[in-house]
Amino acid sequence: MTSRTQPAIPVADRISGFSYAIRNIVTEARKLEADGRTVRYLNIGDPLIFGFRTPAHLVEAATRAIHDGHNGYAPSAGIPAARESVAAECTRRGMPLSADRVVVTAGTSEGIELALTTLAGPGDEVLVPVPTYPLYTAVLAKIGARPIFYDTAPEHGWVPDVRAIRALVSRATRALVVIDPNNPTGASYPAAVRRDLLELADDCNIPLLADEVYADLAFDGPIDALASLHPEAPVITFSSLSKAYLAPGWRTGWLAVGATSRLDDVLAGIKKLADGRLCSTAPMEHAIVAALDGDRTHQQEFRAALRERAELTTARLNAIPGMSVVHPSAAFYAMPKVDLPPGRTDENFVLGLLRATGVLCVYGSGFGAKPGDGFFRVVFLASPDELSGIYDRVAEFTAGFLAGDS
Ligand SMILES: Cc1ncc(COP(=O)(O)O)c(C=O)c1O
Repeated sequence: MTSRTQPAIPVADRISGFSYAIRNIVTEARKLEADGRTVRYLNIGDPLIFGFRTPAHLVEAATRAIHDGHNGYAPSAGIPAARESVAAECTRRGMPLSADRVVVTAGTSEGIELALTTLAGPGDEVLVPVPTYPLYTAVLAKIGARPIFYDTAPEHGWVPDVRAIRALVSRATRALVVIDPNNPTGASYPAAVRRDLLELADDCNIPLLADEVYADLAFDGPIDALASLHPEAPVITFSSLSKAYLAPGWRTGWLAVGATSRLDDVLAGIKKLADGRLCSTAPMEHAIVAALDGDRTHQQEFRAALRERAELTTARLNAIPGMSVVHPSAAFYAMPKVDLPPGRTDENFVLGLLRATGVLCVYGSGFGAKPGDGFFRVVFLASPDELSGIYDRVAEFTAGFLAGDS
């Protein structure tokens, strides 16, 4: 009967460094809902919430696999058919490799975690863009490695300056993260910049982690593998069924390690870690084959829908006094900037917007931006009509906020 007097059980220190604003901010929204208010969630990049549907042939492949009894553990690197499909897809996109260099993962997220855990440990450094997709900094906090941020800025269309990245390379650098097309900015990088990033990775012998989860969602059509521009560079590519195949809840993705012997030990390390978690979701691995070998017409419709929403978003937000946004060229995100009054932060703006209008975005500092810079991220997956209504409310709130009303 001593339990009532015992203190709270402590958690490991690493938990304090692990932060994921995209979901953390939902706590605030839930409080509003508890008061009977309606919240419009523009914080999370899940197309299913907004009425987009997983293609029927993928659903059929996954359910057939369940009915056919593929419910046991799969090989830890994935079923051979899925690995073959991924290898063929990488090869088609200009990154030729064989199936033994592919690992099927629980989404891009697990691939990133496996690669970073294989490459970096306490005291090591990883080059990460800012703003960044927050999983990178969260995983680095977990494994005790340090993010070294390289800037991308709206003035340059959110495209990085590769010479500035080169100046950040040190003897402790273990990887270079490139997110192209990018979340949270919606940018995709010109070929010359992509080539320079690969040359840097090649010269400095640093693995380039190419997060290409949005490669099929560039509005002008699918983008080739980053590695295609420099076949000798050490590149590990990551993608999944979550975005371009509209099945984020399946937690099904892959990584593929470039066909250079420099990366053979890294591949072996990743496979060793993958053994420890047994396998990814076995029935869904069958849907990878259906996705990559099957019909992709849904992507044309999806890209057209995204382009329309991006145009609406840019036009409407740029028309708000005190707000500006770079036009995205891929994915479903935009990163507007509001000219904050002195002393106010991006979090003040986003929480104020939520409380006043029920519209939930994520503040830029959740992606590593400076709180005083006034960035926030919009997910523009809602229908054009709904987005239009939302942007009316954003405009009204912003006018009041900038006038000091809230
Ligand atoms: C840039 C980027 N990388 C990785 C992920 C994680 O994707 P997955 O669902 O494949 O784990 C996301 C999800 O939003 C993302 O935006």
